[in-house]
Amino acid sequence: MYPQVLLKNRKPDRIATLAEYRESGGYEGLARVLGQRSPDEVRKVLLDAILLGRGGAAFPAGVKMMTVADDAPFPRYLVCNADEMEPGTFKDRVLIHADPHQLIEGMVLAAYAVSAEKGIIFIRPEYESAARILEREIGIAREAGFLGKNVLGSGFNVELAVHRSGGRYICGEVTAQINALEGRRPNPRQAPPFPTEKGLWGKPTVLQNVETLCCIPHILRNGAQWFKELALTETGAGTKLFGISGRVNRPGCYELPMGVRLSEIIEEYAGGMKNGGEFKACLPGGASTSYLTRDHYHIEMDFDALRRVGNRLGTGAIMVFDRETCMVAATLNLIEFFARESCGWCTPCREGIPYIRDILARIEAGEGEPGDIPALKTICKHLWYAYCAFAPGAVSPVEGLLTHFEDEVAAHIHEKKCPFKGS
Ligand SMILES: Cc1cc2nc3c(=O)[nH]c(=O)nc-3n(C[C@H](O)[C@H](O)[C@H](O)COP(=O)(O)O)c2cc1C
Ligand code: SF4
Repeated sequence: MYPQVLLKNRKPDRIATLAEYRESGGYEGLARVLGQRSPDEVRKVLLDAILLGRGGAAFPAGVKMMTVADDAPFPRYLVCNADEMEPGTFKDRVLIHADPHQLIEGMVLAAYAVSAEKGIIFIRPEYESAARILEREIGIAREAGFLGKNVLGSGFNVELAVHRSGGRYICGEVTAQINALEGRRPNPRQAPPFPTEKGLWGKPTVLQNVETLCCIPHILRNGAQWFKELALTETGAGTKLFGISGRVNRPGCYELPMGVRLSEIIEEYAGGMKNGGEFKACLPGGASTSYLTRDHYHIEMDFDALRRVGNRLGTGAIMVFDRETCMVAATLNLIEFFARESCGWCTPCREGIPYIRDILARIEAGEGEPGDIPALKTICKHLWYAYCAFAPGAVSPVEGLLTHFEDEVAAHIHEKKCPFKGS
């Protein structure tokens, strides 16, 4: 059993209370930091810990916080991204339901690091129970002196609020989220200027994922070196929540060291393949990553190792497919989601993704033509030039399909039917 850090207070039937969080060392990091370490020192510790963003882009949290200039204007904002609409991803919900004070402490510490006095949790509307838990526990933390005015007598003030999203996937993208919070149409904004310079209402804004923020109390209590040593690989740091779903016996959310092998996650934690099936492929980090195949079965699951094989660890949401799965149908299912969720702001994405969906639907229905494969490849290339990261993410599984399973696509076209369906 590997050390449990973020999920150590997880219980099968209820959330951890403030008292339980404190018994496990909760709010100790905050007490040690406030009044004893400067915001700059806190940012330096996060930088040394190599805390990479857990929301999908793997950007170093310490670097992002450092980009808030010393003389940047006030007020400054901290936004917690709890949008979590990436298909297959459910780790942030688990974190909030398991131990909400861990997130609250992480937000207070992150706010202190960038001298923000207002923190907003942007949460998807389907997570109403998580939003209510947070609202209640924020009140409890305030009464206990962990947030509000003069936190723990340090002179630092910070307030937290929960904001329910209108409910579109694009609202998870950082600049679209800022537009949404301002009540505007949630299409992405041009950057630069980056949000840390000009974000919410034109003021410096630091936006981090739930899991990233949850790591912060532990790093400040135990040190950067401790955090790095949690990982199994030289290039990794910390633990990672892996949300595993699909053709496995025990789907669920598992906290494992960064760098753990994919085969170990599937066999030891997810209970192996369902019905004794054979592993065919998986998405390693949500719907906007590419496929890993049997050749990658023992890959070390950290950001660097995935990058080296042209993929991404993304959110760590692993979706597993077995030999019985038609990869055309699986990819069609994903692209249908992306076609629905394109914000429509730029032409390549608004037009290109539905076009890919239509071609894949024809192929799956046995009506594909030999020219469809090169056409798909060309459209996918164009989508890398769309306005925001949504489009490259959307085509990642399609490119994975064409790279690793082109034979399967060709068989659909050649046989004029889906080879996985009975005739
Ligand atoms: C279309 C799209 C959707 C996204 N959805 C989320 C999301 O739901 N949650 C999240 O934390 N990051 C999401 N991201 C990534 C954010 O833009 C951003 O990189 C992240 O929230 C920053 O926090 P981190 O550095 O702690 O990961 C999304 C990005 C894109 C392009
Ligand atoms: S790439 Fe898609 S989601 Fe991003 S701005 Fe263009 S239309 Fe909107």
